[in-house]
Amino acid sequence: MRMRFKPYAGPELAACPFHMNDATQYRGRWRETFARPAQPLHLELGCGKGGFLAELASRHPEVNYIGVDITDKVLVLAKRNIERVYAQKGLSIDNVKTLAHDIERIPTLLSAADRVERIYINFCNPWNKKANHKKHRLTHTRQLMLYRPFLAENAELWFKCDDEDLFCDTLRYLPEAGFAVIWQTRDLHADEPAWNIRTEHERMFTEMGIPTKALIARITALQNAPAGASGLTAAGAQADPAAADVQKTGMAAADAKTDAAAAGAKTDAAAAAPDEVRAVFSDGARGF
Ligand SMILES: C[S@@+](CC[C@H](N)C(=O)[O-])C[C@H]1O[C@@H](n2cnc3c(N)ncnc32)[C@H](O)[C@@H]1O
Repeated sequence: MRMRFKPYAGPELAACPFHMNDATQYRGRWRETFARPAQPLHLELGCGKGGFLAELASRHPEVNYIGVDITDKVLVLAKRNIERVYAQKGLSIDNVKTLAHDIERIPTLLSAADRVERIYINFCNPWNKKANHKKHRLTHTRQLMLYRPFLAENAELWFKCDDEDLFCDTLRYLPEAGFAVIWQTRDLHADEPAWNIRTEHERMFTEMGIPTKALIARITALQNAPAGASGLTAAGAQADPAAADVQKTGMAAADAKTDAAAAGAKTDAAAAAPDEVRAVFSDGARGF
């Protein structure tokens, strides 16, 4: 469902102290923008109306959070949700920021100096089902390669979705980009972990009877990558031609698989998954 234009969104966000206008100017200095810069920095990509971010950040004042979305229409609702939840809990809003940015251009927003320790991606399946829509998934291999440069050592990616096809493909994209899946479930609510916070879309799909799929992956060194190539950006790849080849190879492989899938080829992601992924399929629930 398309959201209506909100003429008040721009001015309201411009006046909001925790919404970062002209966000790219803070690239490499995000930690300094928080009251407690030494805290871990976590990122939510596609935060939407911000219900998840508001609850998560208010539960964890010991972590700094940035919520990113592309449109002011939802960010203004995220701003209001954050204000409401923090007011209810009597907290000052000093560990969460929001900003508008296209995640497909995330290297212009974050750099290695930002050392992000965790990324959350929840229910961000592109609505456009054209043949190449999979390339725009926020968990597609080429997107994951854009996250690597600003991630800290042992950083994690926490992912939830409703869509089986997206979940299966993400299990394949992750090892292609050097992430190891360390925990996963195809029904998060069957034995819902205490740490789970239901997002707006999670509630909607749950009401429709669709189980929430979830996984946690950890960054690892890229296999066959030259030393220093674990964090690849377009800029970094240009500076290091060998690294650029690794990046191109990974993306070409991902694109070829995407195109094959679009052409109707059926793949069994679990069967096709590398050993490191299969090894964790039977991993028990992990406490957080
Ligand atoms: C289906 S909504 C999910 C919202 C929320 N995470 C939830 O679970 O309820 C997907 C959100 O991702 C955002 N999004 C998708 N692609 C994006 C991109 N390339 N850059 C920034 N935001 C994006 C959309 O604007 C939208 O708010």
